Amino acid sequence: MKKLSSAPKSGLHGTIVVPGDKSISHRAIMLGSISEGDTTITHFLEGEDCLSTLQAFRDLGVEIDKTDDKVVVHGKGTGQLHASEHALDMGNSGTTTRLMMGLLAGLPFDSKLVGDASLSKRPMKRVSEPLKEFGVTIETNDGKLPATVKGGSIHAANYQLQVASAQVKSALILASLFADEPSAIIEQLPTRNHTEIMLNQFGANVKTADDDVTITVQPHPKLKGQTIYVPGDISSAAFFMTAAAIIPGSDVVLKNVNLNPTRTGVLKVLEKMHADVTVTELPSKGEPIGDIRVKGSKLTPIQLTAADVPALVDEIPLVALLAACADGVSDISGAEELRVKETDRIVAIATELRKLGVQVEEKPDGMIITGRKDWQVNDHHLDSYGDHRIGMMNAIAALRTDEDLFLQNPESINISYPNFFQDLAEINGGE
Ligand code: S3P
Repeated sequence: MKKLSSAPKSGLHGTIVVPGDKSISHRAIMLGSISEGDTTITHFLEGEDCLSTLQAFRDLGVEIDKTDDKVVVHGKGTGQLHASEHALDMGNSGTTTRLMMGLLAGLPFDSKLVGDASLSKRPMKRVSEPLKEFGVTIETNDGKLPATVKGGSIHAANYQLQVASAQVKSALILASLFADEPSAIIEQLPTRNHTEIMLNQFGANVKTADDDVTITVQPHPKLKGQTIYVPGDISSAAFFMTAAAIIPGSDVVLKNVNLNPTRTGVLKVLEKMHADVTVTELPSKGEPIGDIRVKGSKLTPIQLTAADVPALVDEIPLVALLAACADGVSDISGAEELRVKETDRIVAIATELRKLGVQVEEKPDGMIITGRKDWQVNDHHLDSYGDHRIGMMNAIAALRTDEDLFLQNPESINISYPNFFQDLAEINGGE
């Protein structure tokens, strides 16, 4: 149980360099591991999820050196990968599991994947079923982990995705690298495209058509090790962007944040809610980056629909919190994917905001939130549900009240942001 801090009357002030992007850190380890030559990764996210990916590739025979300031993956092509002596432990990480299912399908051995209690409840058929179309067999436990990927034989396919999911898309792209001919993967809606960008950087030929949803993958590229600087994670920055927006008098700068347009939905939401946000783009060679400055302001309600969701899927707990502070009624729809995240985030958000006295009506695919200036806390014990983003949402919400609030299970935050409370203290007068 951790006691949470309130914000000072003068608001939150300061500058934070947020940790490296989780999605990009995973992919850098994966692509480095199947390339020829060293891949040097700086600003790698040392959250538990990315460490699960790193350990899995070590277990598959890849030499990976990690020091305080960099990770070096000694790639020797796919030939160096061999079956792990024990089941690969995916920990809490859906991204590791789903992307690796696609990648392992192309390697000439079988792999068993296991995960923690939360991951073992999450749906894996969304990857195993489409991979069937590519000739791949994945044995699952009724669509869940543990699963065994039967590696070694992949044929090309044209596949239309049934869910808007970058994890599923990426699994199919990675499998397509090992196919006999080019494959096409067609998305429902554009989702984060870090796999496509990074694969091309490593020397692959992955093209996205002008419709933004049709991706063609040429098989058997010669991938070469690269130097990767992982930009700051906008999904981590978003906690402090939200904090600054909801605490009057705040002025907070987030440095070197990834501004890939498939991830910046939260900036659009803040703009629509009339938050005071300034983005300064910085020169960069790969993914776009910039500094984001947010000041406290009066917020208006927001309407979110399915088309808005992929670019802010991980930020919806924060959109809900912003809505809880806005003047009026907000409506979040088309977000049923939240039900299958680390926990059912629709239930978790509704339960936690209600403890603060906010009116939340749950819908199958979202929620209706009536914002209010003064919350009336009716339960001082908040819960993370073992979900890092719900834990951090609660810590940011707590800033807004003078009541003593406590967070159950704060360790879950280490999944994506081990220094979260230190960074929060930076802008919260050391609290
Ligand atoms: C991710 C994709 C998203 C996101 C997750 C990371 C990725 O999941 O929620 O945190 O790195 O590809 P879905 O693909 O399930 O939407």
